[in-house]
Amino acid sequence: MNHEIGDPAVHVTVEEVRNAFRRIGAKQGDVVMFHGSLSSMGTVDGGPTTIFNGVLAATEPHGTVVMPSLWYDGSEERRDPSKFDVNTSPAYVGAMAEGMRLDPRSVRSNHWTHAVAAIGERAAELCADHGKFGPRPSPWSDTAFAHGSPWQKLIKWNALYCFIGVTMRVCTIKHCIEGMIVEHILDQLPQGKRLEYRNLLPHDCLGNSKAWPFFDGERLQCILMDEGLFLTTKLGSATLGGIRTRPLVTRALEIIEADMASWLSAEFLAWRQKCLEA
Ligand SMILES: CC(C)(COP(=O)(O)OP(=O)(O)OC[C@H]1O[C@@H](n2cnc3c(N)ncnc32)[C@H](O)[C@@H]1OP(=O)(O)O)[C@@H](O)C(=O)NCCC(=O)NCCS
Repeated sequence: MNHEIGDPAVHVTVEEVRNAFRRIGAKQGDVVMFHGSLSSMGTVDGGPTTIFNGVLAATEPHGTVVMPSLWYDGSEERRDPSKFDVNTSPAYVGAMAEGMRLDPRSVRSNHWTHAVAAIGERAAELCADHGKFGPRPSPWSDTAFAHGSPWQKLIKWNALYCFIGVTMRVCTIKHCIEGMIVEHILDQLPQGKRLEYRNLLPHDCLGNSKAWPFFDGERLQCILMDEGLFLTTKLGSATLGGIRTRPLVTRALEIIEADMASWLSAEFLAWRQKCLEA
């Protein structure tokens, strides 16, 4: 169980959603991304649509609400990218993510592992051209978290990145940060050696990813809360947490790169050492 347990006696309406998101900083014209558990809030009158409309109400006019719309779940049958159809392949990350995909107002980015879906002013702009430029290393492909991906746009736009009844354990954008850690190490190598050393980092999405710099999102969340960057409030019976993407990325890189030995795997540190000695 990766989410808070909701109290069905507590009812959640559009107004409560709007007010809760405003308490953690949503404002006019904002782009708000969230991961969430529907049941953690109690009883949401109207289901997932109420949550989307509440976020749009918190950011009106011109706001945008975004969710992960991930299809690749690690299973054998979804290992073939050509089986992904942006129009019909379900999202596996919860009832709200699937509700957003099916909402007639939504747009979805075209990526077999790390699509997002969005409704509102900047939805089409956010979802366009997922991974079409600026490849960035990741265990799933260099397009998933590319410089030309919705994830990078969320950082560029300093979106409000939120969690309903769940923690930074399910913080997908952290894979962008991991890719940046790899990029920073490769950037220190002479141009001609980068590809060779990048290929020495064994990682893929089939379970051979021990050398990838995965880090503990909940540990980072505690630090960001202590620093006052990650804010929380109540939404129905759930905790709603949120942080702006730019301070999230900046502080995560500062904290982890200053103390890699305590955050990252021995396999990753061994690869980094090879790069430093190159
Ligand atoms: C996995 C996860 C989605 C499970 O949360 P959940 O609340 O149990 O499930 P969902 O959000 O899918 O909501 C469905 C549940 O809501 C309940 N529900 C249905 N309608 C509801 C409503 N109107 N109001 C409140 N709850 C409702 C149902 O009980 C249903 O549970 P059931 O499937 O047992 O019948 C959640 O823990 C999570 O991790 N979410 C984030 C996932 C993510 O973004 N991952 C990123 C990649 S790591």
